[in-house]
Amino acid sequence: MIETSRLILRPWRDDDREPFWAMACDSLVMEYLPPLTRAESDAAVDRMIATEREHGHVFWAIEHKAESNFIGFCGILPPRPPVLEYEIGWRLAHHAWGQGFAREAAEASLGWAWENLSVPAIIAMTNLANTRSWGLMERLGMIRHPNEDFDHPALAEGDPLRPHILYRIHRPSAAAV
Ligand SMILES: CC(C)(COP(=O)(O)OP(=O)(O)OC[C@H]1O[C@@H](n2cnc3c(N)ncnc32)[C@H](O)[C@@H]1OP(=O)(O)O)[C@@H](O)C(=O)NCCC(=O)NCCS
Repeated sequence: MIETSRLILRPWRDDDREPFWAMACDSLVMEYLPPLTRAESDAAVDRMIATEREHGHVFWAIEHKAESNFIGFCGILPPRPPVLEYEIGWRLAHHAWGQGFAREAAEASLGWAWENLSVPAIIAMTNLANTRSWGLMERLGMIRHPNEDFDHPALAEGDPLRPHILYRIHRPSAAAV
């Protein structure tokens, strides 16, 4: 569990399935993401639980401390094809945007990674049109690598969400494991 001034990042629980599904039903949240059925949404939660158990980290569930409610996820995923490096990612319920929660969770996740994983760098990726997501990457000090743009293989050719851009941040020199 990671605690910040306003948030808790924690393993997923069964009762996160409902608010996570509510996010999947929100067209603003899903504007740059492939749509999910209820079964796919629940399967994503199953994968988060399994990944956290196996690796000790995942895109953790985020709870707003003062209100004790699930507001989304942020954290670090281990490498998996086509992503061959540790990846930071995020998704918040729309009511939680615009308050610095994603940045707070992401900075805590990066801090956790530098302390607990012996990795030289962490990447993030998104669609070029997802300005909120790559805006956060830039606020975190991540750098875009245009030579590493790629088409996401899970998305069909011609899908406007398929072209992806990649950002990377390197371990701060003082933060040795
Ligand atoms: C991407 C996403 C997580 C970004 O969330 P966000 O709330 O915009 O990001 P931040 O936490 O950095 O917050 C920044 C905003 O909070 C404001 N803010 C308010 N209080 C703040 C505080 N205490 N500290 C920092 N920022 C604060 C900033 O001014 C900024 O406002 P702006 O959006 O009007 O410029 C969110 O838009 C989202 O979940 N999108 C849908 C899912 C998605 O696309 N995920 C990424 C897939 S690759």
